[in-house]
Amino acid sequence: MLPQVTLPIPGQKSQALARRLHAVESQNITYLDAEFPIFWKRAGGVNVWDVDDNRFLDFTSAFGVMSLGHDSPPIRHALEQQASELWHAMGDVHPSERKVELCEMLSKLTFERWGLGRAKTILCNSGSESIEAALKTALLYNGKPGVLSFTGGYHGLGYGALEIGGIPYFRKPFARQLGRFSMQLPYPFCYRCPFEVPDTFRLEGEHFPNCSNFCLKNLENQIEEAIATRNIGCILVEPIQARGGEVAPPLDFLVLLRRICNTHKILLILDEIYTGFNRTGRLFACEHNKVVPDMICLGKALTNGFPLSVCVGRSDIMDAWPPSTGEALHTSTFLGNPLGCAMAIASLRQHSDPQTAANVRKMGLLLRGALKESQHPAIGDVRGIGLMLGIEFINAQKAPDANLTNQLMKFALRKGLIFLAGSPAGNVLSFAPPFEISAKEIHFAVNCIQEYLISFAGSLS
Ligand SMILES: Cc1ncc(COP(=O)(O)O)c(C=O)c1O
Repeated sequence: MLPQVTLPIPGQKSQALARRLHAVESQNITYLDAEFPIFWKRAGGVNVWDVDDNRFLDFTSAFGVMSLGHDSPPIRHALEQQASELWHAMGDVHPSERKVELCEMLSKLTFERWGLGRAKTILCNSGSESIEAALKTALLYNGKPGVLSFTGGYHGLGYGALEIGGIPYFRKPFARQLGRFSMQLPYPFCYRCPFEVPDTFRLEGEHFPNCSNFCLKNLENQIEEAIATRNIGCILVEPIQARGGEVAPPLDFLVLLRRICNTHKILLILDEIYTGFNRTGRLFACEHNKVVPDMICLGKALTNGFPLSVCVGRSDIMDAWPPSTGEALHTSTFLGNPLGCAMAIASLRQHSDPQTAANVRKMGLLLRGALKESQHPAIGDVRGIGLMLGIEFINAQKAPDANLTNQLMKFALRKGLIFLAGSPAGNVLSFAPPFEISAKEIHFAVNCIQEYLISFAGSLS
């Protein structure tokens, strides 16, 4: 349904709640100003209603979680059914049946489907924790403490995940306790190429170098050097960077990493917490490149709304963990919560229907096409894949324009559209709607962006 809002946005009730929250929540958490935020009350499908009864269109899937919509009937049914029986069990002591079912399903959908036999899972509560479980597993498996990760990468904010993160803003205040075991290499990013491409590769007047993947050759040398000088045990990478600004690397990037990992017998860990479960138009983003990881971290859309994440790996690798003698080395109070497991099982059933991916590809192409048509000097790049797209906004000097992106986000909110800005510079408007988004809703959003650009940032070219 299209949005329906009454100005002012935020409405009076949202404003009152913002004042109350300001007094009692750590001031670094929720961004509060005269135009932000709205407080959510209920949601369904692609819509969110706020406490002032305005209806919004959610282009974020609430951080990429609600891919199957805000009130998916099968998931609601699974949650209600489970809630009528058991809310919480003893995850690593006396678990629930749901935990078994979920681990079996994850094995079938990942490594068994990829022809690599049974997978084993560590259940966690947040994406960050699943990354840390993978890092611990890699160390137990090959005893090598070094980790290679990438600039612009976002893996969460727990200390282990932050250590390998590549966005300076999050690392800087804590830098004195970081930097012990990881090294970040440049992520291949065509629009803002971090590699020193020789001028001979540049075509006069062209933004993108005609470089035949110069980045990959350069990166291969850098990785080989790191492996030769540091005790590297794994490479951890997002197949497409999410928080980094919808950065899709050249197709051969993952293929290169797989080859290097095979050659040096180190592990390839994919962070598919954002890209997993059809967000990019394939069940997992690595399937675009036909690259199979050694471990995969998943979260967000896994449950469609419950804090549960997983680290799934080849069973020979996961068996690096010693058998439990009664005290698990990695666990937590809420591990394998039955409500979350029941929701995940229902969500996986929908995600494993090929029609789900096909629909994402179809709507993704429609959205991408409409965004590509919206040419304007402030639009530097339109990129991404499936329903994981971004517009990079630039100023006259082609530098990131975070201010325009921020103003556009607030303008859109007043029109009833919920967007998020991403990228380290904050100048990429992200598009990650629930998969049931319609053509009409897509055109409404694109028209809104064009309206803003024409009236506030000069005419369309
Ligand atoms: C690719 C990726 N990895 C890890 C995380 C961290 O997940 P969480 O916030 O659940 O810890 C995120 C969150 O945005 C993410 O996008």
